[in-house]
Amino acid sequence: MSRRGKFITFEGLDGTGKSTQMRKLAAALRAAGHKVVETREPGGTATGEKIRRVLLDSATEGLSSLAEMALMFASRAQHIAEVIQPALDHGQIVLCDRFTDSTEAYQGSGRKLGTEAVLKLHRVLCGDLQPDLTILLDSDPAMSVGRARRRNRRASHAATKAANRSSGKSAGKTYSDENRFEQQNRAFFARVHEGYLAIAAREPQRVVAVDARGTPAQTHRKIMEVVGRKLKLAGRSV
Ligand code: TYD
Repeated sequence: MSRRGKFITFEGLDGTGKSTQMRKLAAALRAAGHKVVETREPGGTATGEKIRRVLLDSATEGLSSLAEMALMFASRAQHIAEVIQPALDHGQIVLCDRFTDSTEAYQGSGRKLGTEAVLKLHRVLCGDLQPDLTILLDSDPAMSVGRARRRNRRASHAATKAANRSSGKSAGKTYSDENRFEQQNRAFFARVHEGYLAIAAREPQRVVAVDARGTPAQTHRKIMEVVGRKLKLAGRSV
């Protein structure tokens, strides 16, 4: 089997710019000749994307916190088997938007299920697979969650308009916002934020907090520096 690749995860509250930064890092690494796989959780496989729809749809009512955590891990176990591990076995760089730290922060801390339960499930269901590097995009919780809500409102507005256009109706179906999590209150996101900071303090070798309050270009430069220093991976800034 060829050399093991590198597994890099992006973490942080909704609206911190993870997806943008992941795309920029992927482009920079590809420009330097690396083979890069970009993926996300929940999701990343056909089965995982179905699970994602259940988890994020605000029409999913009454899902218990434990069932929510189990679904996050179901999606992840499939994702590791189908996408992440094979890519790493082929020596590729896997960039993943969220991984088990999200479960620890959102379900463990936000939903108060505790860290221990999450780490135990991770050992059993994920073979304890650890990222080589985790980039924690840190910004003010109120600011980033507000940004994510505005983004989703814009997206659902556009989906509603497009659907009504294609059905020829002026006022028909309205699409609700995608993300069930963004309906949580400030106290929930404050706990998620604390959860992330606790993970970073516990595992400073793996988790690097990057201040995400600047422009996307400034944050990208910081991430390039971290990736170069921690993993000795060359990239061409984009
Ligand atoms: P997504 O739209 O990908 O969020 P963002 O782009 O803002 O990161 O939605 C993923 C949501 O799922 C997000 O609110 C965090 C939540 N989540 C958990 O609660 N636990 C998990 O283990 C994972 C992977 C995500």
